[in-house]
Amino acid sequence: MNLLITFTIVQLVTSSYADTESPSLVAQSFKNDPLVSKVVRNPPSALIKVTYPGRKVSLGSRLEPAQTAGPPKSVSYEADHEKLYTFMFLGPNLPPSGTVPLLQFLHWLIANAPGDDVVKGDTIASYFPPVPYPDGFPYIFLVFEQNGPLNTTQIPNMSFILSRPNFSLEKFAMEHHLNGPIAGNFMELSYLEFVPQVATTAYYLLKAVLGALG
Ligand SMILES: *[C@@H]1O[C@H](CO)[C@@H](O)[C@H](O)[C@H]1NC(C)=O
Ligand SMILES: *[C@@H]1O[C@H](CO)[C@@H](O)[C@H](O)[C@H]1NC(C)=O
Ligand SMILES: *[C@@H]1O[C@H](CO)[C@@H](O)[C@H](O)[C@H]1NC(C)=O
Repeated sequence: MNLLITFTIVQLVTSSYADTESPSLVAQSFKNDPLVSKVVRNPPSALIKVTYPGRKVSLGSRLEPAQTAGPPKSVSYEADHEKLYTFMFLGPNLPPSGTVPLLQFLHWLIANAPGDDVVKGDTIASYFPPVPYPDGFPYIFLVFEQNGPLNTTQIPNMSFILSRPNFSLEKFAMEHHLNGPIAGNFMELSYLEFVPQVATTAYYLLKAVLGALG
């Protein structure tokens, strides 16, 4: 109950003052969410501002699947424009499970972003829309600081659907000597209660797969 109240206050404060985000509020929101805290064991202190058409992501806000079908219209975070960053977007593994939270489904991965210009980075995995699940699994955005350029010819392209499950952010960060996460954000996706559960998930999954395969 206390946790819920704290979380709600944090959400209220962060949604009304999103541009003057206090670092501790971001880390606190990551720590307070029971599932997010299991996925990201080292919470970031700064916010990634993620805006989908018509809707801003603010530390646990709930978006509609239709709003997230395509990539956000803007992504920004405080960055040193002389440095390179890795940006990732993670969601529940397939099948979604609260028991192996350290493995995720990779929805988007960009390396070598100069500053916060993710559009100019190298796409390791193209944007794959999040899938609504009935249990409110979180979708998480993270940014890591690189020590130097990552040699993308040595990183397998993970855009193919079967390369995306079982992604470990900690393993990837370790292998590529990434520092952080230095910034983050997360959201949930509305689940359409009125359509039979399995059918809804299957529908969005199929749509997402077809989209990814072009
Ligand atoms: C990886 O594959 C995606 C989709 O085919 C492509 O858009 C992207 O440019 C590729 N990335 C690299 C680094 O080759
Ligand atoms: C990147 O890796 C490829 C393949 O291992 C290698 O041929 C190339 O020299 C490397 N590039 C840099 C800049 O290290
Ligand atoms: C993910 O890991 C599970 C458990 O180890 C395994 O059964 C499954 O085949 C893996 N999926 C992929 C796509 O590699």
